[in-house]
Amino acid sequence: MREMEKKFYQFPKDFWWGSASSATQMEGGAHEGGKGENIWDHWFKEEPNRFFNGVGPENTSDFYHQYLEDIKLMKELGHNSFRPSISWSRLIPDGDGEVNQEAVDFYRNVFQTMLDNDVEPFVNLYHFDMPIAMQNKGGWTSRDVVNAYVRYATICFEQFGDLVKKWFTHNEPVVPVEGQYLYGFHYPGELDFQKAVQAGFNAVLAGAKAVQAFKADGYEGEIGVILNLTPSYPRSQHPADLKAAHIADLFFNRSFLDPFVKGEFPQDLIELLKEEGFMPIVEEGDLELIKNNTVDLLGINYYQPRRIKAKEHLPNPHAPFMPDRFFDYFNEMHGRKMNPYRGWEIYEKGIYDILVNVRENYGNIPCFISENGMGVENEERFLNENGQIQDDYRIEFYKEHLKWVHKALEEGTNVKGFQCWTFIDNWSWLNAYKNRYGLVSLDLNNNFKRTIKKSGEWYRELSHNNGFED
Ligand code: BG6
Repeated sequence: MREMEKKFYQFPKDFWWGSASSATQMEGGAHEGGKGENIWDHWFKEEPNRFFNGVGPENTSDFYHQYLEDIKLMKELGHNSFRPSISWSRLIPDGDGEVNQEAVDFYRNVFQTMLDNDVEPFVNLYHFDMPIAMQNKGGWTSRDVVNAYVRYATICFEQFGDLVKKWFTHNEPVVPVEGQYLYGFHYPGELDFQKAVQAGFNAVLAGAKAVQAFKADGYEGEIGVILNLTPSYPRSQHPADLKAAHIADLFFNRSFLDPFVKGEFPQDLIELLKEEGFMPIVEEGDLELIKNNTVDLLGINYYQPRRIKAKEHLPNPHAPFMPDRFFDYFNEMHGRKMNPYRGWEIYEKGIYDILVNVRENYGNIPCFISENGMGVENEERFLNENGQIQDDYRIEFYKEHLKWVHKALEEGTNVKGFQCWTFIDNWSWLNAYKNRYGLVSLDLNNNFKRTIKKSGEWYRELSHNNGFED
């Protein structure tokens, strides 16, 4: 049999290669350097049982102390960019009061070290980590907290704007809405659809106000948002399945994608919320502000698709109102490729479908893949005799996604980079260290020792060659 021909997937010069993480997931030092508590510190203190193996946010990979070594390691792995987030509660411990000078010094040192190592900081302002003082005032449901966030964003631009040229207002703003007010996986874990809608609207407003502040003060660079765009695939072409998938898309993707990129909410979503009696409080001028302050750059996080079918049964009219009143998940689809550790489907073409959608329906806005990755449990199984994890499955995962990114690029999508999740194994919220995502492994039993995985070596080659052969 003839060997299959190999192809080299070449990416453009200056393509962004790197990874992303977040303050709470990597910094550690949760009670050091004058940091205030955020919802994760607080929840862990209250209910450590919720966290996998009882491991909380003070036990992360310790970037707070080890950033010098870690940034060198990023460079070694071919990163030309990395996305950390700033911890709001480290910079302003009570959310809307005094600025913590130790935090200013810390972040300035981090960003300067990154620049010295040719790793461009892509800085995210909000990654799921509401200061507890702000959550006690209502978190994203509160207008005061929106104003406190805009003040915080403005302080970040002032303090770090000379070093940072790429800013992001939020990471996955729909996730706190789901976690805090629908499904209970972020503190305070309430189930209240009205609050969910208000929190979502306020996060969009906060983002637009941050964009406005950034532009008004004439900072150099770009400001964007990072969204988890999860395509909603209908079970069939039956109108009922199509309608169900359309509604899921409205709730989970277009609720943020449309206002951040186009400056307006989808009409169908507004109608639906009106019909059901769940419109948020909108003040005069809000919609105009959102219209006039869209983002320059779109980060796309992609892990899995959403499979949707029409509801099998009439919803209980007395049950709390939830988005899945309008659809069911099509979990029984045959032949799905699954990541069993995370319970997420692996569907590589999804990344292409998103990129085509952004090109065709969102003005081909400059975009990049800002997260993509595979969390695997018990990776010690794959250690070789030299103590290196042989994570061929992860290399395969990246290659198969990158092929689709490459295709979208060839067809004209304005995609400028691929940052994976993530650099070093990090702490994953309630899952703590259950699943490992890193290009570098972290040995929790051996002083947080870092060891480059096989995928880390592969990533270095990928970046150095600006492409790969397969
Ligand atoms: C993304 C988040 O949704 O997925 C990260 O931006 C998160 O914060 C990552 O860690 C992987 O998901 P998880 O839940 O397995 O950590």
